[in-house]
Amino acid sequence: MDAGFAGKRKHFDSSEDLYNKKKHQGDNDEKTHTSIVFSLKEEVGSLARALKLFEDHKVNMSHIESRPSRRSKSEYDFYVDCEELQGPKLTKFVEALKGQALSITLHSEDGGVPWFPRKIADLDKFANRVLSYGAELDSDHPGFTDPVYRARRKQFADIAFNHKHGEPIPTVTYTEDEIKTWNKVFSELTKLYPSHACREHNYVWPLLVQNCGYRLDNIPQQEVVSKFLKECSGFSLRPVAGLLSSRDFLAGLAFRVFHATQDIVHELIGHVPLFADPDFAQFSQEIGLASLGAPDEWIDKLATLYWFTVEFGLCKENGDVKAYGAGLLSSFGELQYCLTEEPEKRPFEPEKTAAQTYPITKYQPIYFVADSFQSAKEKVREFAARIPRPFSVRYNPYTQSVEVLDSKDQILKLANDIRADVSTLQDALNKFD
Ligand SMILES: [Fe+2]
Repeated sequence: MDAGFAGKRKHFDSSEDLYNKKKHQGDNDEKTHTSIVFSLKEEVGSLARALKLFEDHKVNMSHIESRPSRRSKSEYDFYVDCEELQGPKLTKFVEALKGQALSITLHSEDGGVPWFPRKIADLDKFANRVLSYGAELDSDHPGFTDPVYRARRKQFADIAFNHKHGEPIPTVTYTEDEIKTWNKVFSELTKLYPSHACREHNYVWPLLVQNCGYRLDNIPQQEVVSKFLKECSGFSLRPVAGLLSSRDFLAGLAFRVFHATQDIVHELIGHVPLFADPDFAQFSQEIGLASLGAPDEWIDKLATLYWFTVEFGLCKENGDVKAYGAGLLSSFGELQYCLTEEPEKRPFEPEKTAAQTYPITKYQPIYFVADSFQSAKEKVREFAARIPRPFSVRYNPYTQSVEVLDSKDQILKLANDIRADVSTLQDALNKFD
């Protein structure tokens, strides 16, 4: 253990007690505080290494204490109060600290709930926190040594990187080669849609042809598509420079925002049609709302549900099974395969579906079949009710913000809104008499 630190040690009974005390002391303080309790192995240099992370991440400590751990004689627990440590900065810092600490517990002012966006413009805060930037390619990617291809990817990634909520998505002039690829995929898939795609997809497709320039010889502009979606279901597209974490990606869905990558064919052909359907849009938003402030293990479960529905979902239709997942609707091969006898088909049950493992580089061996988007939405809602969160959330479409229902006032406000809706409903029903 670092000797220089010994003199500063004080005793704390439990991090919970101390957190509560500090919270009251800080009631009139404008600055926000986050408390972190972490354990280190008692060895030379371990604290110095951990403290270096505070410096590297520019985290300001206002208080620190330590005590021998109750779990093991060879460990020490540290209690640290930090100022203005929230959101993406907090997540990044905790990730780094995980590399040093044996355990970490967080107490932020909202009760240890992971940060989540409250209003739609908050999505700007994480839109560029991508796991890999679009311009970077793995060495085994076919375009790795192609400078033209790499430059093109960087162009797309830069558009996304500079995008802010409320700004139009810039128009892109597509190259002949890109249009040729689009043409090929478009012509193959449209042959299969009448027999393989779900009713909702087949309903929306001609509308995209009419309104958004979905044609063999034209790649639609994201801005045009996004505006169309907004009118249909309130969904919008937002370009993203690479892959987001599951938590960030799902949070976008809570605001009816779909983060679209550079994989234009998959996003525009696979995802867009279904997001125009109001029931599917609501189902997707439900997964997003469930994710806000959820613990990590629940984010994994919700991401798995997303995988088996929005990406690879099948649904019942007049005694048949049809595809609605974007991974299927944008892949000529898998769209044919998924409806054959070869893969296993199980009913969509969130509890079981969320625990299912899956391959990402080959066709799915198991698909889950939903009765309808409405029933899937109800099931996800019941499943989400089990997520340990000290509050409920509700999306306010007027302000495009998430309301956290954790106080009597908030809940009364909701009751009033429902009362107004019920009176509109009664009025409409009376007119049918
Ligand atoms: Fe996708």
